[in-house]
Amino acid sequence: MKLTNEEQRMLNGEMGAFKQKALEKIIDYANVLGADELCEVKKSTVYFGAHPYLDVLGTEDYDEIFSTMMLCSDTVYELEDFSHDCFSQTCAAGCDFYKYKSLNMDENLFNRNRSYLSDTSKKGVSVAGSCTPYLTGWIPLSGEHFTTTESSNVIMANSIFGAYGNADGLEASAWSAICGRTPKWGLHVKENRYANCIFEIDCPSETEKDWDIIGYVMGKKLPPQGQPVISRGFKQPDIVKLKQCFASLATTSGCEICHIVGITPEAPDLETALGNNTNCEVYKITEEDYNEAIEFLSNKEGGSLELVSLGCPHYSLEEIRDTVEILNGRKIDKNVSVWLWTDISTQAMSDASGYTEILQDAGIEIFNSSCPMVMGRGCLDGIKSIAFDGAKQAHYLQSEIDAKVFYGSRKECLEAAINGRWGE
Ligand code: F3S
Repeated sequence: MKLTNEEQRMLNGEMGAFKQKALEKIIDYANVLGADELCEVKKSTVYFGAHPYLDVLGTEDYDEIFSTMMLCSDTVYELEDFSHDCFSQTCAAGCDFYKYKSLNMDENLFNRNRSYLSDTSKKGVSVAGSCTPYLTGWIPLSGEHFTTTESSNVIMANSIFGAYGNADGLEASAWSAICGRTPKWGLHVKENRYANCIFEIDCPSETEKDWDIIGYVMGKKLPPQGQPVISRGFKQPDIVKLKQCFASLATTSGCEICHIVGITPEAPDLETALGNNTNCEVYKITEEDYNEAIEFLSNKEGGSLELVSLGCPHYSLEEIRDTVEILNGRKIDKNVSVWLWTDISTQAMSDASGYTEILQDAGIEIFNSSCPMVMGRGCLDGIKSIAFDGAKQAHYLQSEIDAKVFYGSRKECLEAAINGRWGE
């Protein structure tokens, strides 16, 4: 392993036992991957805070929890400063940052979440509670190395910003946030970033739902280790449409980068996106694929509706504004709850813009830092019918909860919530 002087000093323990341990883990990881050098990580997101699975340790000592679960160590390390040169912020966690009662959440878990996040923020990890960190300033630039715990963010940062990162997992991202390094491997190396299969779009591509479904179908068709380039047939997407596309693409596949000709920086044209990859398979996403996906994601029977969860991935301010516009002064049916998920900073902007108050008056509650999937199924106990406007949640939760799951656009979800029924 080639180490710089600084890395060698860190490995010798000159920067403390915490960074030393994290670097040891990164070097172990590099050895397993076959990487012979490390790269400097400039941005990281981490999956910190309280999560129900942390209870298995039977302790509330956060140093012990962190050492066991994040550093994978039986030795207990005291939390020390994280890397200053790698900006780290939290991804979605097990709880809203402010509320727990209206989510049927345990008060103890809520308190532990605040306490754990406070412990790591004192050591340099900012609290954002976001699975869409690029919407509020977490933007690694072209060629910068990043690590992240959110699968859709891996695709976004690689594809749209041209930054370099892999889908490493929770622990590896924590090690990088502490020591500021990751193995130089996979998509951290330019030669590995070219597309190796081509997708042509022959289905609607105008709305956020269209792009959600495009990502969902593309992931199903993608071969193992596939790195797609979308070559033609699509209407120009914006960041919100891409957010949907990449979340669902990461749901049905292990994709980490997706080039789009004329849109993403490494795909000014098809030839450049493919590099030396020749004879690449061409896949089409047809209207039939599109309709099949929607049929699969949404219960066909329709019926009464109890809960609507909007914002997978977390809503941007623009989407919150659009929600207010769709409502247009109307109220949600009194038998339906509507949860709208975003991050802490976007919620603050929604408050300042007056949107939160309008939503509350209509019967919609805004939450941050989490979602029904990340919180654990307890928040959905007893629910018999639920609608999502994100294919990712509809896909995962339809097999995990004992409820009718409906999937549709934001407008379809809101109209159903206003009528109290899906499909009428
Ligand atoms: Fe975000 Fe939860 Fe969806 S973390 S991407 S809202 S599953």
